[in-house]
Amino acid sequence: MHGVSPAASVFLSVFTLIQSTVEALQVIGGNVTVVQGGTANFPCQLIGATETLSQISWQKKTREKPQNNNFFTILKTGPHFVNGYDDRFKFTGDLKAKNGSLQLFRVTLMDEGTYTCIFTLFPSGIHKTEIPLNVLVPPVTILKDDHPLLGNEEVSLVTCTAAGSKPPAEISWLTGALAGKVRESTTSTLNANSTTTTISSLLGVPTRELDGQLVKCVATSAAMKIEETLPFTIQLYFPPMKGTILEISEGSFICEAEANPPANITWSRIDLLWPQSAVREGAVLRLKEMTRDLNGLYQCEASNQHGSKQQQLCVYVALTPGNCTACWVLFSLLFILIVAVAAVGYLYKSGRIQWSGDRQPVPGNSPPPEEGEVLRESNQ
Ligand SMILES: *[C@@H]1O[C@H](CO)[C@@H](O)[C@H](O)[C@H]1NC(C)=O
Ligand SMILES: *[C@@H]1O[C@H](CO)[C@@H](O)[C@H](O)[C@H]1NC(C)=O
Repeated sequence: MHGVSPAASVFLSVFTLIQSTVEALQVIGGNVTVVQGGTANFPCQLIGATETLSQISWQKKTREKPQNNNFFTILKTGPHFVNGYDDRFKFTGDLKAKNGSLQLFRVTLMDEGTYTCIFTLFPSGIHKTEIPLNVLVPPVTILKDDHPLLGNEEVSLVTCTAAGSKPPAEISWLTGALAGKVRESTTSTLNANSTTTTISSLLGVPTRELDGQLVKCVATSAAMKIEETLPFTIQLYFPPMKGTILEISEGSFICEAEANPPANITWSRIDLLWPQSAVREGAVLRLKEMTRDLNGLYQCEASNQHGSKQQQLCVYVALTPGNCTACWVLFSLLFILIVAVAAVGYLYKSGRIQWSGDRQPVPGNSPPPEEGEVLRESNQ
């Protein structure tokens, strides 16, 4: 025995334990997650050190520069940039307090990586911690009208895209009155920069009942504080249909057709040159003076990118004053159709007229038609 009592030996080992705890040097760091554009705080604190701290330095390896590189050093003289100044970094620690904390403003995805905080002590050397920086990127969300054409087969009605999200965005649809009549189809692609683009289409049979219905695309992502909701009113597209020619005032006719997008209207004269006393103003045909050169067949064509529809208006000026316009138009329509078909048919059969190559009637030995009763026959 060396003269140490059992009680003394217990005391000694407790003392050693306390000593080693006090001397355990530790660098406390952390994990940093920040939304792109925000500010990252890198905590870094050295504890348990009694030695002299000569400097704190920072290294990083990021998406932008994957090789570990020194970029910042804090000496007694103050903080210094190494390998280039970057005004987005700010030293928020204190060398005397052995705090090496750093701030990074306006974080981008390219800043994502590992930041290493290094304390250099004398004489024990280097003590460090690695701090991962995780950058969240909110998606760019857009809605695209897929321009569904009226029909019986399922098509994509509208597409919602949440592009470049990290972590991936989730897309869902609020379909309101259309629940059960439409379905979703979603795909995701991982981009080279580790963001994900999610695309979701709303599919349905493009029938009339879908027209004008409101749906909403809802995009959620950990990078967004609140979900993003994009409303969309479904529109069905179709070529001009259900056309009418209406007389809006005396001698003025409007050509209308149901179409989406709205149809462009063009008036033309099928059988002859455009008469001087008729004016085209968009969808309106205006007969200015009731002269006989107006007589004939007018056509209005309603068209959009999905198709066109033609309608005809037959004008016959009877030169009998006092008649209302509606009457003579109605009358002449019927009259021309019946009489012209009958008359031309008769003349053909009797060989009194023939059509020459340029489609002008060649007068035979029949007498010329009476004034005010000039009839014209036209193809549709
Ligand atoms: C830090 O992030 C890593 C992975 O990036 C994870 O394994 C670890 O548990 C995180 N630590 C803390 C303290 O959150
Ligand atoms: C990531 O890549 C995608 C696709 O190339 C791009 O649209 C997006 O803007 C990129 N995001 C960032 C933050 O660089």
